[in-house]
Amino acid sequence: MREKKEMNLEQLTMGVCYYPEHWDASMWKDDLLRMQDNGISVIRIGEFAWTVFEPKEGEFKFDFFDRFMEVAEQTGMKVIFGTPTATPPVWLTEAYPEVLNSDKNGVLYRHGCRRHYNYNSKKYQQLAARIVTELAKHYGNHPNIIGWQIDNELNCELNEFYSEADTLAFREFLKDKYQTLDALNQAWGTVFWNQTYSAFEEIYVPRKVVSDSTNPHQVLDYTRFISDSACRFAKMQSDILREYIKEEAFITTNGMFGNLDNHRMTKESLDVYMYDSYPNFAFCMDENPKQATDLKDRKWSRNLTEVRSVSPIFGIMEQQSGPNGWNTRMEAPAPKPGQLTLWTMQSIAHGADFISYFRWRTCTKGTEIYWHGILDYSNRDNRRLKEVKEVSFKLKQIKEAAGSHYKAAFGVLKDYDNVWDAGLDKWHQRVDKVSQAGIFQAAQLTHTPMDYVYLEDETTFEELLAYPVLIYPHAVILTKERVNLLEEYVKEGGILVLGCRTGYKDLTGQCVMDKLPGLLQELTATDVPEYTFAGPADDLNYISWDDVLLEAPVFHDILSPLTEEANVLGTYQSNYYKGSPGLIEHICGKGKTYYFGSCFSKETAKVFLEKLGIANPYGDIISLPEQCELAVRERAGEKYLFVLNYENEECEIVVQKDMTDLYTGQTETGTRILRPFETVVYKM
Ligand code: GAL
Repeated sequence: MREKKEMNLEQLTMGVCYYPEHWDASMWKDDLLRMQDNGISVIRIGEFAWTVFEPKEGEFKFDFFDRFMEVAEQTGMKVIFGTPTATPPVWLTEAYPEVLNSDKNGVLYRHGCRRHYNYNSKKYQQLAARIVTELAKHYGNHPNIIGWQIDNELNCELNEFYSEADTLAFREFLKDKYQTLDALNQAWGTVFWNQTYSAFEEIYVPRKVVSDSTNPHQVLDYTRFISDSACRFAKMQSDILREYIKEEAFITTNGMFGNLDNHRMTKESLDVYMYDSYPNFAFCMDENPKQATDLKDRKWSRNLTEVRSVSPIFGIMEQQSGPNGWNTRMEAPAPKPGQLTLWTMQSIAHGADFISYFRWRTCTKGTEIYWHGILDYSNRDNRRLKEVKEVSFKLKQIKEAAGSHYKAAFGVLKDYDNVWDAGLDKWHQRVDKVSQAGIFQAAQLTHTPMDYVYLEDETTFEELLAYPVLIYPHAVILTKERVNLLEEYVKEGGILVLGCRTGYKDLTGQCVMDKLPGLLQELTATDVPEYTFAGPADDLNYISWDDVLLEAPVFHDILSPLTEEANVLGTYQSNYYKGSPGLIEHICGKGKTYYFGSCFSKETAKVFLEKLGIANPYGDIISLPEQCELAVRERAGEKYLFVLNYENEECEIVVQKDMTDLYTGQTETGTRILRPFETVVYKM
């Protein structure tokens, strides 16, 4: 089996983000000792401090951080060192404005915030490479440094780039990809609306156009290009770091943002992938409907599931520890008593072995004066610090769970072509949003642990067979290679569930002139002679499955069996296609496929999990109310069951078989009341 890049600390470790440059040096020692008194053994530093290291172009100064590192050494504090390229110095952007990113209208983003650079400026690449080299040479063998963070949150703040350097690099990317203009014109369908190019120099990153609707095939390639640019920028840094830093130090980066193939970046450049987890965004003060979901902070488990698909055991570089906001945004309230522990355990339950809080003390200056850390401005001991200490005690009690892996009962298939297409194409987006949320909610509420499984070039069908059931909700873009993999999976015994809109596009994003679901016709034995989205008046339709009626929201593929082996399991209940097939099963080799003509709402997904026999796999061991999440980590037959109560009210759980509560070491069976936000870790 392919080895994935993952955290290898061999213990559950607590860290915190620290900014020596924000505080008087007289505070450093006390801070570091106090951290250790409270169970924190690692700090992340340096990621915004370029000017401290290079106050003038080409003039490097390390005395400030040398003094700080001496304190780290004296106090035995371990360090993750950040490369400072997320915030270029003002001397740099003044001298070389071409390094700046710009908006779609070509207006440059100026100095004053952060992440205002572009990945493709040759000048920026050269100056970034130089500062990384100097830092790596100077600190690469420092005994206290255990790892390096590249930049900070690549693609955060902005994940679109429209500078001149980007246009030049985009042309190279396209030349490399298509070789000829004919091939490019074909792939982008430029014959439509007379967009044909006769020179690569005529091509730009998307610009202001009528109706703000640039050629969709161009934008899909542009998205791939942004990802490629970020990956190349990370690789440039990691290649330098590897040359100079000691072998045992790891390389990582933090965050998970759009238009970036995190799987590729991790394979090419990192030893482990890390995430920044702020679950309290779910309780936003500012109106922010995009965050609204009935799972609230539990929705962060979905992000953690994504992170785990990159690094099965990962790190949290920034774990929320206080109330949040910028001076321009009033965002999230303070974690209530117990929530800081809950969110830490949420991360660990999903596979994190390293949890570093953001940040030690709240900054008194700048944009983030309201982005609270563990301590407030006054620096006095507080409730949150006390809770951090209690967490460190709990981590000692569950230390044997370190290095174990999350155990899912089924997988949801993904690939970047479809993720990005769903970001751009409203027809794809509408169906995908509903199904991704629905499947995740159903898994959560039925206590059925799930994984995201990305189809990568290296993915094998043996890897897929680790999951008895895979749902590929809307594989709009299909490729022959991916279809071959799915065929093998099904023939060897896998159950593949597909939803509407499968297979109607190729890799360019153009629609195929074929019976749908395109390349998956044969495997599903299904034909889609007609389809429609559900207009408001037709919104309510159902597809039967035995005695159950499945909700069929947003879109309807009206199905027809393609061969005699296709088994029509369900039909539409209303509209002009009442009675037409809506669910087809096809047995193939040792496995089978289900083609469902619509989207997977929470209720529909629940029925699938139940009917396919995978719902609630630990139901005979532990009964939980909906408000609790169940996550399971496993190593060599030992299972660790994490039970997380997300509600601010108590609830009852029933342990049906003897299990050890690892926090107390006591064996337990029977009914137990969980307090608001309480967590338990059982060993079985
Ligand atoms: C993260 C970022 C940190 C800090 C924090 C609070 O996205 O990496 O530097 O800005 O959010 O806004």
